[in-house]
Amino acid sequence: MLTKEYWAQLAQTQSELAEKIRADAWRLNYHLMPETGWMNDPNGLCQFKGVVHFYHQYVPQTPHGGEPPHWGHKTSTDFVTFQEEALFLSPEHDYDKDGVYSGSAFIENDAIHFFYTGNVKHPGDHDYTFSGREQNTVHVISKDGYTVEKQEVVIPHEDYPEGFTDHIRDPKVFAHEDTYYMLLGARTLENEGKILIYESTDLNEWTYRGIFFGEDYALGYMWECPDYFHLDGKDVLVFSPQGLAAKEHAYQNIHQSGYLIGEVDWETLTFKETSAFRELDYGFDFYAPQTFEDEQKRRILWGWMGLGDTSPEYSNPTITRGWQHAATLPRQLSVKNDQLYQEPLPEFQKLRDKQVSQKIVLSEKPQHLSFDELAYELQVTAEVPLQQFQLGLLQDTTLAYEAGVLTIHHGVSGYGRKQRSVKVDELTQLQIFVDTSSIEIFLNGGQYCLTSRVYPKRTEAIALSGTGTVTVNTWALAKK
Ligand code: FRU
Repeated sequence: MLTKEYWAQLAQTQSELAEKIRADAWRLNYHLMPETGWMNDPNGLCQFKGVVHFYHQYVPQTPHGGEPPHWGHKTSTDFVTFQEEALFLSPEHDYDKDGVYSGSAFIENDAIHFFYTGNVKHPGDHDYTFSGREQNTVHVISKDGYTVEKQEVVIPHEDYPEGFTDHIRDPKVFAHEDTYYMLLGARTLENEGKILIYESTDLNEWTYRGIFFGEDYALGYMWECPDYFHLDGKDVLVFSPQGLAAKEHAYQNIHQSGYLIGEVDWETLTFKETSAFRELDYGFDFYAPQTFEDEQKRRILWGWMGLGDTSPEYSNPTITRGWQHAATLPRQLSVKNDQLYQEPLPEFQKLRDKQVSQKIVLSEKPQHLSFDELAYELQVTAEVPLQQFQLGLLQDTTLAYEAGVLTIHHGVSGYGRKQRSVKVDELTQLQIFVDTSSIEIFLNGGQYCLTSRVYPKRTEAIALSGTGTVTVNTWALAKK
């Protein structure tokens, strides 16, 4: 359905954007970014016949997004070095003409089965929430991850249950025993978030089985990108709720992403939580994560290192440089004490170069590290839990830990991003990944994470102050 003119225009604007992008010092060294234009959610994550496939929401022709997204595609055999592939899916059918929206991958019978949301907006006077929108669930079969064998609607919009707005999307498919299940994120007519569950024996015919989660749980008006997995003996439900009121050290962004630990009742097909809802990341730029199991059976999460609807609070100056947003590092998940831990994949250690290790007795007066890198890893390990600790990074970013709260503060290099905080009862370790215009912070071996984009025009020496003794390791991270 997309015309020759569309593709010619796309190629033309992409080459114009590529020109600007080449000159941009804020391009990231070891994170995934759109080749040109706009990136949002990670989609269809899987490893198939050794190859890691990373698909993503992609509007290659404009850094503003807003146009119907495609699925961009990048592949790797080591999780660190990726190759740009041709667009995998494009909004070229009646059932997805306004966007090949988010979805997941499921490997079965020597093929990858993708499920995504085909977004359609009907012309007219609509609000596109209560009327005017279709979100069809589409099944794609691929024998190789690069080409499409079969593509068809398996749940047309009109077959969704009563009581919901037009917002039902982001299919996540998994198997339990001999049955396939699909979760969908939804918004009810009363503006409540819910997760629906469907069942299938062949991945083609899907039967609605009810509300998997949300019947007795209020948390915002819409739940996007549901994900379920069993890990370390626990059932985990991940989703991205919208519309939560900010609290002092929680829900500080406009939209959240988080998880519940609990247990699935496979008879009633419902999830019962045993933990509180916890955010996956407490920084400014994190949303719509997706997980998958790789060939080593590791549960890996990739998030969108970005967030929609943040303007006017903050913005991204890369827009004028032809691109916007990126993906987080892939993170390996584990469950400890009913909490999800996220650690950067060990594969990234192979980028380490020029290690410097030093013991520092902290004092009130900042001590500076002589270290002049734009992409690096920094680890701070305390002998005993830290009471008071400050770290100055990049141009004017500071981390401060005091009275059990860790706060990240950006100055002008945050482009409107000011401050986020998280309660951390005991802090013994910080692992920080800086990548020219991003900062990803893992606390206590991944117990808490904070991820932000930040756009320094110059960098100051890394400065440490506080009380106690710490071991500091730094590595330059080579460009991949
Ligand atoms: C999350 C999201 C999804 C949707 C996609 C569209 O960021 O809104 O719910 O499928 O982005 O790009």
